[in-house]
Amino acid sequence: MRTVDIITKKRDGGELTRAELDAFIQGYVRGDVPDYQAAAWAMAVYFRGMTHGETAALTEAMAFSGETLDLHDTLPFIVDKHSSGGVGDKTTLVVGAIVATLGVPVGKMSGRGLSFSGGTLDKLESIPGFSTRLGLAQFKRQLKEVGLVVAGQTQDLAPADGKLYALRDVTGTVPSLPLIASSIMSKKIAAGADAIVLDVKVGQGAFMETVPAAVELAELMVAIGQRLGRKMTALIGDMSQPLGLAVGNALEVREAVATLQGRGPADFREHCIDVSREMLLISGQAHTPEAAEAAARRALEDGSAWAKFRAFVTAQGGDVTCVDDPDRLPAAPLVAPLVAPVGGYIAQVDAREVGYTVVDLGGGRARKEDSVDPAVGVVLAESTKVGRYVKAGDPLLWVHARAEDALAAAVSRLARAIQIAPDEVDAPPLVHQVIRQAQTTAR
Ligand code: URA
Repeated sequence: MRTVDIITKKRDGGELTRAELDAFIQGYVRGDVPDYQAAAWAMAVYFRGMTHGETAALTEAMAFSGETLDLHDTLPFIVDKHSSGGVGDKTTLVVGAIVATLGVPVGKMSGRGLSFSGGTLDKLESIPGFSTRLGLAQFKRQLKEVGLVVAGQTQDLAPADGKLYALRDVTGTVPSLPLIASSIMSKKIAAGADAIVLDVKVGQGAFMETVPAAVELAELMVAIGQRLGRKMTALIGDMSQPLGLAVGNALEVREAVATLQGRGPADFREHCIDVSREMLLISGQAHTPEAAEAAARRALEDGSAWAKFRAFVTAQGGDVTCVDDPDRLPAAPLVAPLVAPVGGYIAQVDAREVGYTVVDLGGGRARKEDSVDPAVGVVLAESTKVGRYVKAGDPLLWVHARAEDALAAAVSRLARAIQIAPDEVDAPPLVHQVIRQAQTTAR
């Protein structure tokens, strides 16, 4: 089977067979299919799409492209969560600690920043000493002893996704429904999850820009998971504006710490409660949504989630004094505000533009081999949320930069990303919909 025939079949709108997808994925992992052919194939999929059957076959080919993890010698039931990617999305840091302290251990393989969206590994690595490269033995030991572990995807686990993910990031092929669904689900399946809560983001700061597209992605992933015997829930979370106020690696850790200490921005805290609720429900640790929410709130208020986070940082080699005192986290030398040119209601905070601005400041990658600057980013003012009122001259946000030219470019780009209207504007819902297995709940 020639790779070029698989590419041209997809380019011309054909439906790839399981054998063709297996051959392509195995060839790519072995190195027989070079990056340029994989890039051409990904672009063909981007334009032509895939049927549900093809996407499920691609997911399986990727999930079993390397080793798979079986954690059942450590825990009887494995619950995992995954966000489809957003701007300011530091949810795992808070939710992992909340549910772990409530008896739902989380052993998670996370990703790096992708396009305009940040990555959990990059955020955690802004804590000096924090290691996301863990061997299997340590992963299991920490899962059992601490109940929370976040590691990079090892090269052996779903290696096809590891390679394709980095390639897609730099070839304009991220926002493709079958490629996102297979990427996310292959990792979750390979990592041995029994139950998966998907946090599917929708809006300008997400790969799915409309609610119907996000629901389609969520339903596709729920169907793939169920087909492979997993318990599934998906939330459709709003990403039309950044989640919380901080965007940028260390800045987001600082915000996660504040939230774990019972402070933090309301939208981010409530989103963490929503995701925690679903994880507690799917694991059977809570029996009603109300009980699950109450437990999650208590864990934030009584300091137990914060204590769990500290234990987690310590276990992975992070300098805990840097989360106890976030002023010790990496900080950018230059900080400047953007002020509101007029008074009025915030009508738009374009999350995608904010995400790309942070990438350009050095907080994300332009090429897959780039390293990220942990210190740079953007922090919105509390009132820079859609629907809130601002006065002319109020600071809208602060840019944290390494160099003067980058700072100036970021400020002028962000000035165009924020729209202020004279009339009142409705705030978007935090969660548009919850899709629980074989049932849909509108919120
Ligand atoms: N998150 C992933 O893991 N993969 C994607 O393709 C997009 C978001």
